[in-house]
Amino acid sequence: MSQLSFNEVSLIYPARGRHCAAQLVLDRINLSVSTGEFVVVIGRSGSGKTSLLNLAAGFQEPSEGKVTLDGKIIEGPGTERAVVFQDDALYPWLDARDNVAFPLKIKGMGERDRRARGDELLELVGLPEAGQRRIWELSGGMRQRVGIARALAAEPRFLLLDEPLGALDALTRSRLQIFLLDVWRKSRSGALLITHSIDEALLLATRIVVLSPNPGRLAADIPSSFAADILAGAPAVEVRASPAFKRMHDGLTGLIQAVSPEEELAA
Ligand SMILES: Nc1ncnc2c1ncn2[C@@H]1O[C@H](COP(=O)(O)OP(=O)(O)O)[C@@H](O)[C@H]1O
Ligand SMILES: [Mg+2]
Repeated sequence: MSQLSFNEVSLIYPARGRHCAAQLVLDRINLSVSTGEFVVVIGRSGSGKTSLLNLAAGFQEPSEGKVTLDGKIIEGPGTERAVVFQDDALYPWLDARDNVAFPLKIKGMGERDRRARGDELLELVGLPEAGQRRIWELSGGMRQRVGIARALAAEPRFLLLDEPLGALDALTRSRLQIFLLDVWRKSRSGALLITHSIDEALLLATRIVVLSPNPGRLAADIPSSFAADILAGAPAVEVRASPAFKRMHDGLTGLIQAVSPEEELAA
């Protein structure tokens, strides 16, 4: 088992000129994610979710505290942590298969093995025929799936996902939520997913972490079992319609609004 941990992590963005003071964005965050867990961080816009993910990815360093992987301080990006953003960051000059296999090229894998592994991954994400298609020939949902396949290519221990389904239409989004859950289980990795949708958090998480804004603080850390129900075969519509789901939804809405009642959170 691997563990990604935030220990007393604070992040301050420095002042920019005379009119933009230094800003405490994350305040003493303590959070651990283990492989086999699906931790969803929820909070309104500006609460520091992306900053938190960037620290885990190694794109940024904390101002105070430590971000560690199995006790070792994270000093930069690494292949054991794969990142997926809201807008797919695919390479338009490569076809789908070469996009997926790109991390393997970096690792030094030969072309034949890369192609074979690229095809396997495309099959895993439900795009077995898409290998030779160009990125611009794919729909938004297909592109996100290619992005997720690429994230899985290097067999990371952790998937770091920043609103990966945020730009998709509602129907595609609900399909890909179930898909993501399935992919996570098969990969046996740990997931840290950021969203501002309470519904998405409840469907995907094994644990839901609420981040309150100004400065970002952990307001709650709640276990959730709906993802397990879905993986056991329960249809998502039924899970959503259950009294337990509605109760949790209301509870989380209340929790997030209690933090800042004047703002509305898009559910
Ligand atoms: N590179 C940066 N430099 C200065 N301030 C930033 C930077 N990135 C984010 N911020 C500020 O930090 C706060 C949290 O941003 P972010 O982590 O993107 O939150 P979220 O993802 O929850 O919307 C916001 O007030 C934002 O303006
Ligand atoms: Mg963000």
